[in-house]
Order: sequence, then structure tokens, then C-alpha cells
Amino acid sequence: MVLGGGSAGKAGAVWLVGAGPGDPELLTLKALKALQRADVVVHDGLVSDEILDLSPASARRISVAKRKSRHSYSQDEINRMLVAFAREGLTVVRLKGGDPFIFGRGGEELEACRAAGVECHVIPGVTAALAAGASAGAPLTHRGSAQAVTFVTGHAANGREPDLDWASLAKANHTVVIYMGLSQAAPIAARLMEAGRAAATPALIVENASRPDERRVVTTLSGLAEAASALSGPALLIVGEAMALAQAGGGLVAEIVREARA
Ligand SMILES: C[S@@+](CC[C@H](N)C(=O)[O-])C[C@H]1O[C@@H](n2cnc3c(N)ncnc32)[C@H](O)[C@@H]1O
Repeated sequence: MVLGGGSAGKAGAVWLVGAGPGDPELLTLKALKALQRADVVVHDGLVSDEILDLSPASARRISVAKRKSRHSYSQDEINRMLVAFAREGLTVVRLKGGDPFIFGRGGEELEACRAAGVECHVIPGVTAALAAGASAGAPLTHRGSAQAVTFVTGHAANGREPDLDWASLAKANHTVVIYMGLSQAAPIAARLMEAGRAAATPALIVENASRPDERRVVTTLSGLAEAASALSGPALLIVGEAMALAQAGGGLVAEIVREARA
């Protein structure tokens, strides 16, 4: 598909674009081209200035960053904003961290565009889990020790525990990647162990994957909560036998935890 639209008199369109995990070199060429043609960039908080600066100086930038306790824009307002700009004939880039369809609410924005009759395209991005596994040198699937990988959210409405299929997640030789799980690391680890996952299962936490301030902590399922308590995120918790290949690094915390396990 070729990028188009944006000039006066032409129909506008919305491009849901994955910005990747942070490192601008992990942007796709297609994402870069979309940014370079944008009239408006509507972005969330995990997108760096380095990436935003790839859009034209003339492009309007609107941050719709969400914070834990406060939303600067509701999802409904964002949906309406995208539709309204496209109806003005603009090329709208909705830039999201990672991939728009992995815990990114891209599906809701796509549905809103479809309902409004607005053209909408999706450009995938490198989701955080892929960057985290890559930089730690730990494959998410691995012959003999990880026949499946499951991405789950650790975040549930009203600060409660997420409603997950713990029995399924507790199966051995299966990698579980938990997004938005840092503050819930203790109950998540407890649930997995109660459901039968071994306490000694290798685990990895990666904070700020692919960014200059990335930190990786190598631990076990039973050590997950303590390791998580030293980090502030954004971070992924990854549990699974294949995490035995993971290498810690990137900061003091990683070294401290590693020594404590030795
Ligand atoms: C709302 S979700 C968005 C996920 C995003 N769409 C993706 O595909 O990576 C935000 C969560 O993704 C994870 N995350 C995003 N970027 C990250 C990064 N660079 N390093 C570690 N975790 C990251 C964290 O768990 C964070 O709380």
C-alpha cells in the first residue's frame, strides 16, 4: 500500500503507526515514510522526541499521553479527534509505542474510523517483548524449552488483579510475557506458583527495552516481586525456561540482584 492524502482537496486518512519500543532504528521504513508525510501526529507518552522529530517541522504534534491516575484525553476524545482531522482532509498519524494492536487500543481507533467512514491504515511496530528478548539474548520461543509464548496484561481495571487463565500460564516450557505488570509482580508470581509453575523458573525483567537507559534483571519466578520493586518502568516481566539464556545488564540494580542470587 502506498501512502497518500494530506493535501488540500484530497480525502484525509488515519494511519495507526507502531513506533517500536523506543530505539528510532527499530522503526519500520513504512512508519518513517508515514511520519514524513504527516500533517498531524497524535502520539502517546512512550514515543521519544527523536522519533517525533522525524515528522515535518510543519506537522502539528498532539500528545495524548496517559498517566496512571489521570488521562489527558479519554479514548473517546482521541477517536473523535482522529476522525475530525481526517475529515478536514489531513493525513493523520496516530503514533503509538510498540505495535498498535498489542495492548495499544489500536483496534478501538480502527473501529471508530470505520464507523465514521474514514480511511484507516495500520503500520505494525516492534512490540516491546521482541526488543526485550533480543537485547537480553533470550529467545521467546526456543526448541526444547519454549514451545509457546503468550502476551498478557498485568493491569486490570480498578487496580485489581488481572483475570487470567493461570493454569494455562503455569504450564512448563511456555514463555509468559507480562505487559504493564510491574506493580502487580507479587500477586502475579504468587498466582503462577499456586497454579503449579516452579518457583525456580527463570525470569527476566526488562525496563526501557531498546532505550539508552535500558535495565535488565535476571531472576527467578520466586524472586520476581523483589526484583520488580527496584524498578519503575515501563517494564516487561518475562517468565519461562528460555529466560535461562537471558543476560542481565544496563545498570546497578541488575548487578545487585545478580550478586544476591550467586
Ligand atoms: C499500553 S502498553 C503498550 C504496549 C505497546 N503497544 C507495545 O506493543 O509494546 C505499555 C506497556 O508496554 C510495556 N512497554 C512498552 N515499551 C516498553 C519498553 N521500551 N521497555 C519495556 N516495556 C515496555 C510496559 O509493560 C508498558 O507498561
